Amino acid sequence: MTVQSAVLRALRKPRGTAPQGFGKTSRRDAWAVYPIVQGVVFTICAGYLTFSGVVWNAIWHTPYEVDGYLSPLFSPDLSRLFDLPPWLSPGLLILWIPIGFRATCYYYRKAYYRFYFADPPGCAVGEPTVHRRFALENALPFVLQNLHRYLLYLAFIPLTFLWLDLIPAFVAPDPAVVGPELGYGVTDPGPRIGLGGVLFLVNVVLLTGYSLSCHSLRHLVGGRIDCFSCTRTRRVRYTLWQRLTDLNRNHMWYAWSSLITVTLADLYVRLLAVGAFTDPAIRF
Ligand code: FES
Repeated sequence: MTVQSAVLRALRKPRGTAPQGFGKTSRRDAWAVYPIVQGVVFTICAGYLTFSGVVWNAIWHTPYEVDGYLSPLFSPDLSRLFDLPPWLSPGLLILWIPIGFRATCYYYRKAYYRFYFADPPGCAVGEPTVHRRFALENALPFVLQNLHRYLLYLAFIPLTFLWLDLIPAFVAPDPAVVGPELGYGVTDPGPRIGLGGVLFLVNVVLLTGYSLSCHSLRHLVGGRIDCFSCTRTRRVRYTLWQRLTDLNRNHMWYAWSSLITVTLADLYVRLLAVGAFTDPAIRF
């Protein structure tokens, strides 16, 4: 046996204490409902977002910014800085950050390991024995999950731009001032409270909650400290850690609600762009 195969064998998943065999369990509740519902919602949202961010614009050139609303999938809009070929969606240049951030999220890992890989299908539910042949997060590709902390740092870049996008969402830009591109589709410039603006605001609040409730951020702020009260800085870190812990308790809720609102926000912009309806708004 080579050293490499010996190491991989040692890293293989332990047998565990749950009943052996796919789906075997002593549980009497409807444990399969959660992973099935979550798998359906996740697949619909992730499938739509991938299609919209990568394919829709590149093939049909449907605008992703209209009436002062820039789809959150394309923010910041790097096509304003770079001359991109028409087949390349500008969303690709930025989407790898939120996709990587979500794909490596501790909570989503638990969720999609369950509904996509049955690894395990649920708590105290047996999984396929084939899993024991793999080193899982100890080898490629899943060892890349360890990049989560770095993706967290990067995730605050598009998040900052999403907050800035609220300005044109609540004050429709004047095409005569900002130019035809930034003012595309704006017929009534000026302050407004539109359905799109409200949707954008809810979306960015939930995305902020999702990022701030991240397990890695909580560890970054409060981890590796033996004494929380020893210095003034550590007391501040302790207070911050407590606030983040409050948010962290609802991380699952932020994960699902923000995934749904970002899907709805992009769909809203696309429907406005194809003229399906106009943004209902109170104007001042
Ligand atoms: Fe979910 Fe970091 S653990 S975003």
